Amino acid sequence: MQVFFEIKTLQAYLQNQRKSGKTIGFVPTMGALHQGHLSLIETAKNQNDVVVCSIFVNPTQFNNPHDLAVYPRTLEADCKMLEEVACDIVFAPSASEMYPSLPTLKFDFGTLENVMEGKFRPGHFNGVGIVVSKLFNIIQPNKAYFGQKDLQQCAVINCLVKDLSYSLDLVICSTQRESDGLAMSSRNRNLSEDQRVIAPEIYKSLSAAGELLKTKSSTEVKQFVTDYFEVIEDIELEYFEISDFETLLPIEELLEGKTALCIAAFLGKTRLIDNIII
Ligand code: PAJ
Repeated sequence: MQVFFEIKTLQAYLQNQRKSGKTIGFVPTMGALHQGHLSLIETAKNQNDVVVCSIFVNPTQFNNPHDLAVYPRTLEADCKMLEEVACDIVFAPSASEMYPSLPTLKFDFGTLENVMEGKFRPGHFNGVGIVVSKLFNIIQPNKAYFGQKDLQQCAVINCLVKDLSYSLDLVICSTQRESDGLAMSSRNRNLSEDQRVIAPEIYKSLSAAGELLKTKSSTEVKQFVTDYFEVIEDIELEYFEISDFETLLPIEELLEGKTALCIAAFLGKTRLIDNIII
């Protein structure tokens, strides 16, 4: 496995790979890797000749300075894990390598900006759009891999690829969970022992809400989830939405196979998100 810190040297290497007919799979990450990230690498390994994983804690997508400050940075351990799954290339640029100056360009993802993550984290998707388009331009992959765990991010990237005519395939991979249902996340490391014990309630509430939606209206199911967290003192619900899984716009009735139940909640200062599609 080779680790690159500079854009130029990575590009020279990848150009040679492309010239010799190799296909390139790309998995963008912010590091603090877990099995969720590794499942993306493994899928990419099966579908490409060369797999590039980027590790970059992107400052422009953090709207909360505390979240950026405590975001775990574990490059050495990450590289070990990537080596074990036979990842070919790691790209770990510094902030000044990625942003010699702060971009003035702004993305507007339309209605996707007004709901859920877009609504509660203003500017977040602009930052994601900027960094992912820069990474796509640098790496020029044939395929790029994203997790369903960040469903709205998948919709935003889909919009980016379509509107800017990137010639690559997006591959969306399923959410990897701990044995108690908690969606794997780099932020889980910031949970205290007590918080970790109750964190699976987030997924439990989604599963229960999914069952309930078979017989109840979306308003009733939303009330159910609000009540669910009212009695769990240490989890503060930020939003729960029932949406079309592609447009992410709220829906009133169950659309079989196309209904996304999405949630964000705080355990202390740690904010976790999850979703299921039913
Ligand atoms: P990060 O949170 O590190 O996630 C990197 C990729 O791993 C994303 O596509 C995310 O959806 C996926 N992922 C995270 N947890 C997962 C899980 N439990 N199961 C499956 N996939 C999972 O998402 C980002 O970084 C950044 O926004 C990024 C796209 C790198 C841009 O900075």
